Amino acid sequence: MEQYAIKGGNPLVGEVEIGGAKNAALAILAAAAMTDETVTIENVPDLRDTMAMLQAMESIGIRVEKLDRHTIKINAGTINDLIIEDDSIKKIRASYYFLGALLGKYKKAEVALPGGCNIGLRPIDQHIKGFRALGADVRIEHGLIITEAKRLVGSHIYLDVVTVGATINIMMAAAMAEGQTIIENAAKEPHVVDVANFLNSMGASIKGAGTDVIRIKGVQKLHGTEYAIIPDQIEAGTFMFAAAVTRGDVTVKNVIPKHLESISAKLIEIGCEVEESDDAVRVVAAKPLTHTHVKTLPYPGFPTDMQPQITVALGLSKGTSIVTESIFENRFKYVDELTRMGANIKVESNTAIIDGVPKYTGASLTAPDLRAGAALVTAALAAEGISTIDDIKFIERGYEDFPQKLQSLGAQIEKVCTERELQKFRLKIG
Ligand code: EPZ
Repeated sequence: MEQYAIKGGNPLVGEVEIGGAKNAALAILAAAAMTDETVTIENVPDLRDTMAMLQAMESIGIRVEKLDRHTIKINAGTINDLIIEDDSIKKIRASYYFLGALLGKYKKAEVALPGGCNIGLRPIDQHIKGFRALGADVRIEHGLIITEAKRLVGSHIYLDVVTVGATINIMMAAAMAEGQTIIENAAKEPHVVDVANFLNSMGASIKGAGTDVIRIKGVQKLHGTEYAIIPDQIEAGTFMFAAAVTRGDVTVKNVIPKHLESISAKLIEIGCEVEESDDAVRVVAAKPLTHTHVKTLPYPGFPTDMQPQITVALGLSKGTSIVTESIFENRFKYVDELTRMGANIKVESNTAIIDGVPKYTGASLTAPDLRAGAALVTAALAAEGISTIDDIKFIERGYEDFPQKLQSLGAQIEKVCTERELQKFRLKIG
């Protein structure tokens, strides 16, 4: 039994440091396998998912050395296998980045089919379409995706949907293909840009990342580099919404405010004050929250990874709000949990219709996936009384030291592993 025990009701107040972006880190770790030279990566978040990536890299002979908690030195010159089927890797989505990275460098890769959060169908047809356009053969056998090519040759690829994973994967493979690749309708998320910057720092030639047309001139060889990963947009956004729902005053530090614009805009719409400085954003929720409508969209739109967090806030906002999920079709599973806390939310296909209630009350909850789990934590922090949250392994995939960071803002939250520890928590908080 591993749970978070939470006593709600304290406004979160203070400053919190945001870590490196999980979804950039996962791709960058895989991309580090594209050179035989040493790569040093700073600001790598210490998470279950990043650890699974590193473990998978070690399983194929890549040397991984932790210089400190967030700095990793990687040397892939010792790679001795191109098959990645380590148990831990089967559970994470980003395992597919080894396909693009290894296909680019070695023209061959075999990787276990990706796992990850169960938020709907998560096809990889666009990744496969991209690899095939570069001249690779791709097939699925015995639970592995196998891709190989005699030569990879640059191509013009139009993505049918805006996909972060396929954009990054094709960019990695194309970085070491012969000639020019153009990816149209590319994803523009900050982590796409970060991966492109990382590859360019290794000698790749990638232009246009952050726009919907990316141009890549293949190079024969990539070299070592030192690189620092950008701050995590979604970790920052989660703390910003935690401030809103607890009616607090929180400054998220070490962020790129530009990446948070769609999140800040919605917080302002629902009645919060948002102050931006160079590398920090302060959210003050002094007034009662009011309703709004939101639709998740690819960047620079409102992120799907913030959809549960805003729904929690709108559940406590005066009036009727509508949240439309346009990226994943099964991302409202947590609404049942919120209902048990007193929320009034009706889900119809990809839309949640929310009638704000004045308060939530504590309940025994289960995290259905990473972001929904984090959102339930924020709901519990706002609720009257005590909540427990099970399946926190999902939350630990994407939030480093989540309880500790929240405690530093005045939250009453603890990770408990036994019934006795839970009792102790109850006694302590009175
Ligand atoms: C990445 O998932 C993130 N995961 C997700 O973060 C995030 O929710 C998502 O991007 C959207 O921002 C990682 O980076 C490891 P997509 P990914 O490819 O790459 C469809 C989190 O909580 N699609 O951008 O799987 C797909 O079904 C997680 O940190 C295809 O149709 O997302 C979806 O509707 C959860 N064919 C849309 O595109 C494909 O080949 C966007 O998916 C690929 C995707």
